[in-house]
Amino acid sequence: MAREISTVGVIGLGTMGAGIVEVFARNGLSVVAVEASPEGVEKGKGVLQHSTDRAVTRGKLTAEDQAALHDRIRFTADLADLAECDLVVEAVPEHLDLKRQIFARLDEIVKPDAILATNTSSLSVTEISVATHNPRRVVGMHFFNPAPVLKFVEVIKTVVVEDEVVEDVKTLAERLGKKPVVVGDKAGFIANALLFGYLNHAVSMFESRYATREDIDAAMQLGCGLPMGPLALMDLIGLDTAYEILDTMYKQGRDRLHAPSPVLKQMVTAGLKGRKTGRGFYTYDEPGSSRVVADHLTPHDGEAHVALREVRTVGVVGSGTMATGIVEVFAKAGYDVTYVARSQAKVEAVRAAIAKSLEKAVQRGKLDEAARDAALGRLTGTTSLDDLARVDLVVEAVVEDLKVKQALFENLDEICKPGAILATTTSSLPVIECASVTKRPQDVVGMHFFNPAQIMKLVEVVHTVSTDDDVVATVQHLCRDLGKHPVTCGDRAGFIVNALLFPYLNDAVKMLEAHYASAEDIDTAMKTGCGYPMGPFELLDVVGLDVSLAIQRELYLEFRERGFAPAPLLEHLVTAGYLGRKTGRGFRTYA
Ligand SMILES: NC(=O)c1ccc[n+]([C@@H]2O[C@H](COP(=O)([O-])OP(=O)(O)OC[C@H]3O[C@@H](n4cnc5c(N)ncnc54)[C@H](O)[C@@H]3O)[C@@H](O)[C@H]2O)c1
Repeated sequence: MAREISTVGVIGLGTMGAGIVEVFARNGLSVVAVEASPEGVEKGKGVLQHSTDRAVTRGKLTAEDQAALHDRIRFTADLADLAECDLVVEAVPEHLDLKRQIFARLDEIVKPDAILATNTSSLSVTEISVATHNPRRVVGMHFFNPAPVLKFVEVIKTVVVEDEVVEDVKTLAERLGKKPVVVGDKAGFIANALLFGYLNHAVSMFESRYATREDIDAAMQLGCGLPMGPLALMDLIGLDTAYEILDTMYKQGRDRLHAPSPVLKQMVTAGLKGRKTGRGFYTYDEPGSSRVVADHLTPHDGEAHVALREVRTVGVVGSGTMATGIVEVFAKAGYDVTYVARSQAKVEAVRAAIAKSLEKAVQRGKLDEAARDAALGRLTGTTSLDDLARVDLVVEAVVEDLKVKQALFENLDEICKPGAILATTTSSLPVIECASVTKRPQDVVGMHFFNPAQIMKLVEVVHTVSTDDDVVATVQHLCRDLGKHPVTCGDRAGFIVNALLFPYLNDAVKMLEAHYASAEDIDTAMKTGCGYPMGPFELLDVVGLDVSLAIQRELYLEFRERGFAPAPLLEHLVTAGYLGRKTGRGFRTYA
């Protein structure tokens, strides 16, 4: 018979514990909240007060309900006060010995049928459970940060735990309005196993100065629609906790990609643990605050240090989806655009597509008729590259084939005036391969727009080892003028976004292949646990499995990381012709 759970205990009132207390108390449970010391109790109380005050200010909680919520909580620094609890959730720091000690003590304090749960993110629940006399009542109950907001809960089932205990915890999670998923006891469970490889990779990009922290974060927010960038998320999680999670995952799987980036250890040692200490990758106005303040790494606004090149007229080569979108973006922003297609029919098709898109904008009230006509008036279509002789900048968006692009750059080099900037919007080819066939590699740069270019704000500005500083500065400035958000990075496979995104998608496929969780559960984990707009399998099906496989192969070839090797299941699905939505079947089947 299912247990009646009405009184619960929470041990540790830090980043997670305080939030877990709030979740329980909000849902009518009586809570015993335990910290290690009276000072810890005061701090935990403060966090809870602050959080519920905010809920009241935002109209999400009434003052009466807030008072009732607080009345349901008893704070203490004595574990013995947990004696009457039906369930205890432990949320102390991520150290195995500490957790084992606490579970051994709890075992003596609580009732024989009380459930003991750990909120560990990565440690073995089994190892924690065997510190008690009755591992059959020990489970993992892994909440996500911030616990009052995120709906996902992983319920971790060890090989010894009683099925009923797992069921009771799952039922309780549902009662709390959460979406629980039951999984086995493997480091990182679903969400962290997929998240932390990505976070660690982002940290290593920062550490190697591949891009700035602001650019890495903006790239993932704007390019993938994530609620936070990876470095801001590390600060929220806590760098010490993140370090321990990565370390455990590395020790279990020996995947080098999980070996914590060296800078993490240095930052933790220096006390830069993220928001909770007021400083991590970013600086906050005080410990515990989410408000970022400027520091020595904050980029300076204002004019670039180099003189910018003048860009008034632009050329676009290509007539596909990206080229059409890019032409529209320039024309709407007031630039005269000469676009080059391979046939007159294509020239007209591009113009028609843009006219239709602008018309839609007018109908929605986002553009007036005069602006529409002006934008159309700025378009010149042609089939001759020679017409690009006078433009200040050319963006090519032809087929993703190096030979084709190189031939085009040779031509542009001969045709365009000296000082014109030549940009490629390639998403996977090395920009330097295009630059090196010209006699002006200093003028060649990557301008990686995202699809649909009219809507997506992000542009990755890619400099090669040869690109001049004023070219980079000019293109950054140009992007801002187009209403885009430029991020700047070096010329490596995947740039920022794809290099961070695709290995994560590939890891999800490997997890599915290993039968650790279903595609449904994995998608749920990333959406409800991490606030991603789409789960990895939904996204793979939209992007196309063939495209994803090609990108993953590029990344593997460039970095030679064992962990980047494409998942065999992905290869098999592509071989079978299951390419995602476009073929009606990928990881899921579509009507
Ligand atoms: N931070 C996250 O995003 C996150 C998310 C999910 C799960 N977790 C897991 O939750 C657990 C707690 O992590 P956190 O980020 O909240 O850490 P934290 O450092 O913010 O908080 C830990 C709290 O435990 C207290 N504590 C230490 N020893 C104690 C003891 N003997 N008795 C009572 N309290 C004690 C500390 O004073 C501190 O307030 C870890 O296992 C972590 O892996 C963390």
